[in-house]
Amino acid sequence: MDKCYGVVLIGCGHIGEQHIEDIYYRDNVDIVGVVDVNEELARTFARKYNAKAYGTDYLPFLRMKETDIVIIATYADSHLGILQDCLRYKKHVLCEKPIASSLAAGKRFYSLVKGTQQKVLVAHILRHNKSYQKVAELIQSGAIGRLRLIRMVQNHHAINWQRYKRLMADCPPIVDCGVHYIDVMQWFSGSRVVEVSGISCRLDSDVDVDNYGVINVRFANGCIGYYEAGWSRNLGSCNVKEFIGDRGRISLTLRENRPANREEGDLITLYSSDTGEYKTINIQSKYNDMYAQLSALIDMIESNAPANPDIDDVYSAFYTAMVAKEAIENKCCYRIQPFDVRTAVGHLSI
Ligand SMILES: NC(=O)c1ccc[n+]([C@@H]2O[C@H](COP(=O)([O-])OP(=O)(O)OC[C@H]3O[C@@H](n4cnc5c(N)ncnc54)[C@H](O)[C@@H]3O)[C@@H](O)[C@H]2O)c1
Repeated sequence: MDKCYGVVLIGCGHIGEQHIEDIYYRDNVDIVGVVDVNEELARTFARKYNAKAYGTDYLPFLRMKETDIVIIATYADSHLGILQDCLRYKKHVLCEKPIASSLAAGKRFYSLVKGTQQKVLVAHILRHNKSYQKVAELIQSGAIGRLRLIRMVQNHHAINWQRYKRLMADCPPIVDCGVHYIDVMQWFSGSRVVEVSGISCRLDSDVDVDNYGVINVRFANGCIGYYEAGWSRNLGSCNVKEFIGDRGRISLTLRENRPANREEGDLITLYSSDTGEYKTINIQSKYNDMYAQLSALIDMIESNAPANPDIDDVYSAFYTAMVAKEAIENKCCYRIQPFDVRTAVGHLSI
């Protein structure tokens, strides 16, 4: 029989719930504990997801030998400190993105992961999404020729405004959400970002950061892309994922955005300019496949499988997002030096 892993969840909020609801009933998972600084939330999660215990302090759970894996689902500014504690107690970690809310903390996070024997996976959930995997496969097999342009929009009509405001106290949407999409762009293009710029504004008067922004990127292989992200009470939700090559284009429409045929799943549309034909592919894909992601960490533990994405890719996306934020603040374009996370994380103003 498969080993059963003792799992502790730290952070019983929005994404914490998506993690636990997809894993608590699995044969190889035992929920040892759930932790939140809000005790009532932790207590509710414990009852709802059959956790053995709950608490407001995670340290007692790290001392328990029953704990194998810790899921960190708290705010970005706490990720580094909790990671350090988990590694001190020799626990494996699945940590939510972004890895940190400052470049200095992000670098430290990166070094810790590089230097540990424990397995650490950063939760870039789109890497585990079947629709994104299919688009990557199509692009990399040459279905649209050479990839030239990536268009990505992810705007949220922020109804749960307090949650979004708290997230924005750490990182603006172009960083918090941007790390996902910069990672996807680098994955799909097979190339690193070498140039970044952007523009942003404040759409709500009661936030301290620009809660809407667009970042423009150029990749080493010549492909370009943009990513637009906003969280606002004044924006409508919008989702665009389009990949244009020199022989066609691919668009990805999530199930929730299909006017009809939602039951068919996500929709990938592939247009070939050679034939003028469209091909459509329906994919039954879970948007946040948290069990697939946890299983990837278990493969790292059991078979020494590589992390997906590995920490170099994670750090590269984080670094690019942070430089994009700086480029916007300084109203300039930065050229990111050929990316070598071990020696060069500087940038040149152009
Ligand atoms: N992968 C994704 O698609 C995705 C989606 C949403 C959020 N996130 C990320 O997940 C993280 C959390 O976001 P959220 O939307 O779930 O926020 P949230 O406010 O819904 O939940 C965070 C929870 O963590 C708790 N918490 C904070 N510090 C704590 C600590 N030190 N110990 C114990 N509990 C603590 C808070 O009380 C809160 O209940 C952020 O880094 C965010 O960027 C990822």
